[in-house]
Amino acid sequence: MATALITGASAGIGKTFAQQLAAKGHDLVVVARDEARLADLKSRLESEHGISVEVLPADLTERLDVQDVAARLADPAKPVDMLVNNAGYGLKKGFLDNDIVDEEHMLTILVRTPVVLSHAAAKAMRERGHGAIINVSSMAGFLATGTYAAAKSYLTTFSESLAAELDGTGVTVTALCPGFTRTEFHQRAGITRQQLPDALWLDADKLVSQCLRDVDRGKVISVPGVHYKAAAGLLDVLPRGVARNSAFKSRHRPQAR
Ligand SMILES: NC(=O)c1ccc[n+]([C@@H]2O[C@H](COP(=O)([O-])OP(=O)(O)OC[C@H]3O[C@@H](n4cnc5c(N)ncnc54)[C@H](OP(=O)(O)O)[C@@H]3O)[C@@H](O)[C@H]2O)c1
Repeated sequence: MATALITGASAGIGKTFAQQLAAKGHDLVVVARDEARLADLKSRLESEHGISVEVLPADLTERLDVQDVAARLADPAKPVDMLVNNAGYGLKKGFLDNDIVDEEHMLTILVRTPVVLSHAAAKAMRERGHGAIINVSSMAGFLATGTYAAAKSYLTTFSESLAAELDGTGVTVTALCPGFTRTEFHQRAGITRQQLPDALWLDADKLVSQCLRDVDRGKVISVPGVHYKAAAGLLDVLPRGVARNSAFKSRHRPQAR
């Protein structure tokens, strides 16, 4: 039976990956800080799907915790066939208005952690000749709207590079690039997006099932939803300066009272 390790499995997109992979018969290793939520997920998924769930509590901004998760991925006695690097969050304010420590923590969880975990997982998977890594990036990575966007841009390019390095080994890498998705993400960051039209909001269930289909097809970039597919196509052909200026201004325009 295949095993998937998912970071940020206690809520949102990560929890949805856990539910869908459990329904397909995968055993799971679920990682996040909130141990009670992970334990609740474990008992529900084990009883609903007859699979086994290992709870691995970790704060993925902490080096030692990341090291523990990497060691789990590299353990030859308990092979992991799929890694979903999903845990993450955004910051409400602009770079210069944030404490630099908060910026460093965000950079760690969005960039350093998935890089360290991908290294551990990919080496073990290449050795076994099969496996899949999903890096949950963002549409923001195609834009220049702040340090969150810069980090996601790194993650997307990193995923493309690692996919090329692993070509022909039986190991695939996919960057999932969602747009606005209904989860706890915006509430946790204290960001309101009530003015956004309904059509721009993605449903986590649909985006995860499309992503898993894209992984089966070996796609390197997975963009869920027709609007965001069209936007990604447009951003590919727009001069970088136009995309940069309009994206930055729309993110930082003064809010109407
Ligand atoms: N929602 C969107 O609109 C959207 C769009 C594009 C990309 N994304 C990306 O999707 C991914 C998942 O976000 P989401 O929307 O599902 O948000 P969410 O509902 O807030 O879930 C975030 C998950 O990350 C975990 N997490 C946060 N900080 C952590 C830490 N220090 N250590 C370990 N785990 C931590 C949380 O678990 P604990 O609190 O239990 O630790 C939770 O399970 C993120 O990488 C995000 O950047 C989201």
